[in-house]
Amino acid sequence: MENRAQWGTRAGFILAAVGSAIGLGNIWRFPAVAYDNGGGAFFIPYLIALLTAGIPLLVMEFTMGHKYRGSAPLTYHRMNKKYEWIGWWQVFISFVISTYYAVIIAWAISYSIFALNLKWGDDTEGFLFSEYLNLSAPGEVGSLVPGVFIPLLIVWVITLGVLFKGVKKGIEAANKIFIPALVVLFLIIVIRAITLPGAAAGLDAFFKPNFDAIWDGKVWVAAYGQIFFSLSIAFAIMITYSSYLPKKSDITNNAFITGFSNSGFELLAGIGVFSALGFMAVAANVPVDEVVTGGVGLAFVVFPQIINQFPALNELFGFLFFATLVLAGLSSLISIVETYVAGFSEKFGTSRTKAVFVGGGLAALVSILFATQGGLFFLDAADYFINQFGIALVGLVEVIAVAWFLKKLTDFQGHSNEISDIRLGGWWKICLGIITPLILGYMMFQLFKQNLMRQFPTETGNYEGYSDFFIFYSGWAVAIGAVVVGILFSLKKWNSNTSLESEKEVN
Ligand code: ALA
Repeated sequence: MENRAQWGTRAGFILAAVGSAIGLGNIWRFPAVAYDNGGGAFFIPYLIALLTAGIPLLVMEFTMGHKYRGSAPLTYHRMNKKYEWIGWWQVFISFVISTYYAVIIAWAISYSIFALNLKWGDDTEGFLFSEYLNLSAPGEVGSLVPGVFIPLLIVWVITLGVLFKGVKKGIEAANKIFIPALVVLFLIIVIRAITLPGAAAGLDAFFKPNFDAIWDGKVWVAAYGQIFFSLSIAFAIMITYSSYLPKKSDITNNAFITGFSNSGFELLAGIGVFSALGFMAVAANVPVDEVVTGGVGLAFVVFPQIINQFPALNELFGFLFFATLVLAGLSSLISIVETYVAGFSEKFGTSRTKAVFVGGGLAALVSILFATQGGLFFLDAADYFINQFGIALVGLVEVIAVAWFLKKLTDFQGHSNEISDIRLGGWWKICLGIITPLILGYMMFQLFKQNLMRQFPTETGNYEGYSDFFIFYSGWAVAIGAVVVGILFSLKKWNSNTSLESEKEVN
């Protein structure tokens, strides 16, 4: 344990944690989720989710990683060996996410090159689905799409290359370059976007509250889901990263800096994206809601259209936008893959090099499925199910296990208060012990009810209209698979070199 890798500096850790948090979720997902869920009204559930669950859970995960100094499975094992499976469940959720997350970064690499001559032309939708992705039908794998496969290889070479080099020379060094570059490039884009004609109309649509939406449970599910994904909590990342902190580290301050930087960036992304949408809507003389779409469509269909219409330097701004997606995505992907690199190497007693090679190599192989003609449909189903029935559900299990079953909150509060400037008060325990489990519990109950009722009898239609069979094996099976494989891994014996002792030596 004394030889555990460590961050070189406090700034190095914060950059890595912020780099993990700021990712595709902030630029690709947040603006559309916010808009779909009531625009301005989304901020109330979002802020409540950030303050009652996001930051308190981040503090809790930083404390767990720092106190038990292990990957997520080892941390849970050291806390109480019966709970190791939760750590593995989180690790396998990360494994699944990494396999499709890498593919979205690969698209962004292609698009940053297409931007150089606006290769997507006027019909950006046709270009994405037919020309670039050569899309088949849901469930049909089809052949490999070379335009996705080649950048995907590049994504894996960079990610695994950084991880091979280790915590300080690899992850920390990469984030020291990626994050400042990302912030500068993104600020240039946002400043340009808010000075476009029509930006005000977009911002108005984004910020105009729709208070009816607050009473809709779906909006709360979306807000909590967004906070978890965006802050990289409940999927093993922050536990792993904080396990590399030196003993003298300020937990709460680091958590506040990470949480607020991430949400600040997210808000900035929303402002930039909606200003650009306003510009497009005003130019086409249509209301802003007619030009808004979510997810894939927003970044890869609507953005190229906006870039086409830019008054000047279209190619440059197109390149910058997709380059920021690549940078934000890579720094997050590195953290996602590190969860299983750390977990595998501790469990099996292998070197980092071997764990990167085997774990990362396996994820890279699986990710090829998403680089096929049917890849987009598999990606969409896996993303939806692993978020709702993976991250949000394991988040609930995590707080219930720690707060209610293991009754660790007082102990963690003491640990954090001993080393942090900002002291945790009773509010922290109330958030984690009462508010978060109640809201998340209610949400999950509703979500199961809706999905099981919506998805098996088909009269009301499946998610995205996919067939029952497709939803079953590419959605449910993926989410259920993560927990089942997690439990199986927890049954396996640890190698004898890993100390399973509790944390008494680290305090
Ligand atoms: N936190 C990362 C993101 O927002 C995973 O994309």
